[in-house]
Amino acid sequence: MLHHTTQTFQSHFSTIPLIAFAPGRINLIGEHTDYQEGFVFPAAVENGIWVAIQKNELKVCRLYSLDFDQEFKFDLEAFSPKKGHWATYVMGMVTLLNQAGYSISGFDMVIGGNIPVGAGLSSSAALSVAIGTALSGLLDLKISKKSLALYAQKSEHLFAGVKCGIMDPYASAFGIKDKALLLDCRTTTHEEVPVILEGYSLLLVNTKVKHTLADTAYNDRREACEESVSILQTSYPEIKTLRDLGPGELENVEKILPKTLFPKAKHIITECNRVHEAALALKSGNLELFGTLLKSSHHSLSNDYNVSCPELDLLAEKSWEVAGVLGSRMMGGGFGGCTINLVKNAALDTFQLHLTEAYMKAFGKIPEFIPINISSGAHLI
Ligand code: GLA
Repeated sequence: MLHHTTQTFQSHFSTIPLIAFAPGRINLIGEHTDYQEGFVFPAAVENGIWVAIQKNELKVCRLYSLDFDQEFKFDLEAFSPKKGHWATYVMGMVTLLNQAGYSISGFDMVIGGNIPVGAGLSSSAALSVAIGTALSGLLDLKISKKSLALYAQKSEHLFAGVKCGIMDPYASAFGIKDKALLLDCRTTTHEEVPVILEGYSLLLVNTKVKHTLADTAYNDRREACEESVSILQTSYPEIKTLRDLGPGELENVEKILPKTLFPKAKHIITECNRVHEAALALKSGNLELFGTLLKSSHHSLSNDYNVSCPELDLLAEKSWEVAGVLGSRMMGGGFGGCTINLVKNAALDTFQLHLTEAYMKAFGKIPEFIPINISSGAHLI
């Protein structure tokens, strides 16, 4: 894909480009906790987005997307990013960099990538981070990884309409080979934790669905958490987000919150705790405990936070039936995308067969199996 992106750039624009790469991400555990300043445990994957870029001495930016096989042009002095178009991610990052005081001059760009579409591997965060890395490199802006992640998140808020957390662009920017990032979303700092899985593998199973309510439901969940916080602040004036409450407070929190809000708050509070437990389990090589935590996370996301769907539930439940599977849960925002599974290498074939049969029977489709290699974050090539 690197080669293809470079060649396409040369044949389109007849100059030699600079190339930036930014990967997609998985998340081991810690779902929907980032926008409550909680803890998450993501890692970068091998697949990602390549952006080829070069200055063009014009006031116009000329773009080409390999995925869409489409060209797009915009005038640097008059452009408006519109929701739902791939070029919006470019215009979004340019807008934010301009606002931050960086001066962006005309450029040509080709975008290529190999992140499976709709799998929930955060291709849009990877795209924004790749664009930011390319512009920073081209114009020697020396923008830090953390700022790039924050611009990418803001671009998603402003131009894609999803009030996402920091996890996806952060993982794409900071990823390290064979390590997961135990990320504190309040301080936006992380600890690297080696992912050593002796005899086991991480495997994603793609439902190949994305239910249409996903984006609205995402923003609704965020609002529900904020509402819980403002109600709870009368009894806990010191809290800023749900991250500030531990599982020991659950009984009291249940008395204070309305029945509709409590399960959602409970998810965030227990999930933050699971992230810490999972990090300890991984550090001490206790993969069984790690797997059990994945399973509890799924239950919590499906029953309390209500962001799963029949396809994800079936894949998780069928996984638990297979000997050699230590854990399985839905990954990412929910309502489609993938499950993440910790499977004994010797059981990989049985696992795939069992899930394929069950998924085919229930939904008339074959799920996609995506092996995971934890790789490095965004960089220039
Ligand atoms: C999406 C968002 C992230 C995070 C996850 C759920 O991927 O972009 O910020 O909230 O959902 O953990």
